[in-house]
Order: sequence, then structure tokens, then C-alpha cells
Amino acid sequence: MTKPLIELSGLRMVYESSHSFMSMFTGRSGPGVTAVDGISLTVRSGETTAIVGESGSGKTTTGRIATLQERPTAGTVRFDGEDVTDLSGAALKRFRRQVQMIFQNPYEALDPRLTIGQSVGEPLRLHHLGSPGERRAKVLKILAEVELRPAEAYADRYPADLSGGQLQRAAIARALILEPKAVIADEPVSMLDVSVRSGVMNLMRALQSRMGMSYLYITHDLAVARYMANRIAVMYLGAIVEEGPTEQLIAASGHPYTRLLISAVPEHHQGARRRRVTLSGDALSETGIPAGCRFHTRCPMAQPVCRSVEPSRVSLGAGHEAACHFATDVARNGLTVAA
Ligand SMILES: Nc1ncnc2c1ncn2[C@@H]1O[C@H](COP(=O)(O)OP(=O)(O)O)[C@@H](O)[C@H]1O
Ligand SMILES: [Mg+2]
Repeated sequence: MTKPLIELSGLRMVYESSHSFMSMFTGRSGPGVTAVDGISLTVRSGETTAIVGESGSGKTTTGRIATLQERPTAGTVRFDGEDVTDLSGAALKRFRRQVQMIFQNPYEALDPRLTIGQSVGEPLRLHHLGSPGERRAKVLKILAEVELRPAEAYADRYPADLSGGQLQRAAIARALILEPKAVIADEPVSMLDVSVRSGVMNLMRALQSRMGMSYLYITHDLAVARYMANRIAVMYLGAIVEEGPTEQLIAASGHPYTRLLISAVPEHHQGARRRRVTLSGDALSETGIPAGCRFHTRCPMAQPVCRSVEPSRVSLGAGHEAACHFATDVARNGLTVAA
């Protein structure tokens, strides 16, 4: 097992709703939105950890905290063994060289007024690395690596001349040109045409094995997480409800929510005699985080205890944990709907 690169511990993020529409009239701030509610997560060197969850579960906020674009209300971010939570100035700039982001929307990732070559080379320029000639050589090399070939031709084009998939490849080139140790990718293929998604995912995997960086891969799609990641963390309403090595988490899920996500992925229920139980309701429509188990309002197995007692993480072996009162049972027997 490789060493931890990014270690998030006890992260909380509460957005004060002081600028809400109502507070303009009342002058009071609301209770705030708890976007991240005490999560701990590790990304190991050279590996990929995926965060999976529905819209609004706190994935993007977690990514923004891991890259220090936002500072958490509580908790710490460690990078390469160092507490970086409160980094500023030159140390923050050094950190930013090591940790890059890839975003969902490739059409907004690059400045439309700059050529692809200028955009991809911009991080080198901002960090004062190399001469113009050396920077151009690096740009051409990384464009070839992301399979925008011939690199010379792509370097002189503008974003408007490229397709979504090509733009995302250029954005990946820009993220990798400083040879970061970690890349946080927030839904990097979900806006792309289905036909080009697997090409971009395969590229990211190939680049990782060549360059050795770690990925924190954010997605709403469990099948994508399974394809990309060594470990998966399943988020629900701001918390990690299950975490573990990818295949073990899928084969023996200990949280009903994970089971429901798997049942929603087509390829996993073909041939299996597993009964389909659908996930009803909507996490976003929950007003605040329910008491007890945060998932109990949508859980097909909910018992009285789930309404009042918040489950702690239950170990299911080999770094696999689920926050469910019945985790051991769910891991062994699957979803057994309460009578
Ligand atoms: N800047 C913000 N101000 C207030 N609330 C926010 C802000 N950013 C995110 N939120 C809220 O935090 C929750 C989690 O959001 P987000 O991290 O974007 O989730 P995801 O990426 O999983 O869809 C949502 O309820 C969202 O509305
Ligand atoms: Mg998001």
C-alpha cells in the first residue's frame, strides 16, 4: 500500500445563509446549510479515490476544500504529511502547483481568447517556469500525451474550434503540465457526449500509470467510479456512508444506499437474481439532515432505532466501513426489506 497523499479529517462546511433573500428583510441569518458534515477520507499516492453521490451530497464542496479553494468550517486537510489547512502566501502557491483540478464543463475551462497552446502553457508562465521556447516544447509534449495530435496544429487553434471531448483533453493537459502530485476531477466526463466519455476516462487512467499522480475522482455514477477508482467513498447528505476498496464495496455493500445505487446501474443486475428496489424520493428535497441515520427517510430497511440513533461506522474488514446499524447483515444478505 502506498503512502497517504491527501488526508481529510473531520471536515465540516457550513454555509451561512446570511445573504439569503429572506435575511434581506429580517436582517437575521438563517441556520446555514451543512454541505459537508464531518467527513474523513484518504487519497493514497498514485491511487484513485472516487467520491460517489447524488447531486447536493457535498462532493464538489469536498473537492474545493481538498484543493484549498475553500477553507472548512472545521477539520483538517493534510497533504503529503503536512497540515495545509491554513496555508497562505508562498506556501499556498507551492501547494497549488502540486494539486490541480479538472472541472465538469470543458466549454468554460479555457479562455476563448487564448489559443489552446497559450492556455495549456499558462500555468508554466504564471509560475515563471522555463523560457518561452522551453514552455512551447512542454506544451507540445503534453498535447501529444493527451492525444491532441498533431500537437502543433492543436496548439494554434482556439477553443471554439474544438469539440467537447477535445476541450476536456486540453483542460487535462493544462492540469498536468506542472506535473502535479494530485488531480481533483469533478465530474470530468458527465457533460461529454457518451461516445467520447470512455476515451477520456481511458486517457486519465493511462496518464496516471505513466505519470503516477493521485486522483480524487468525483462522480454521481457508481459505474464510472468503479472503472476509475481503487477506493470508493459513497456520500449522502454531507457524510460518507460507506467507504472501501472498490470491488469489495460493490460485491459486499454494507449500506442500503450503496445497494440502491448498485441496483440503479444496469450492468450489475443482469443475470443476478437480486430484486430491484428502487430509490425513491430525492436527497435534495430533504430539509436539513434528518435525525438518527441521515438516510432513514428513504431507506427500505429503516427500523425505529434508525430514526433516533446515528449509526457509527461498522468495519466490514480490510478498510471497508459502512455507517449503518445493520451493516454486517446488509453486507452478508443484501437488502432485506423490513416487514
Ligand atoms: N457557496 C454555497 N453557499 C451555500 N450553499 C452551498 C454553496 N455551495 C454548495 N452549497 C450547498 O451545499 C450542498 C452541497 O453542494 P455540493 O458540494 O455542490 O454538492 P454536489 O457536488 O454533491 O452536488 C448543497 O445543498 C448546496 O446547495
Ligand atoms: Mg458537484
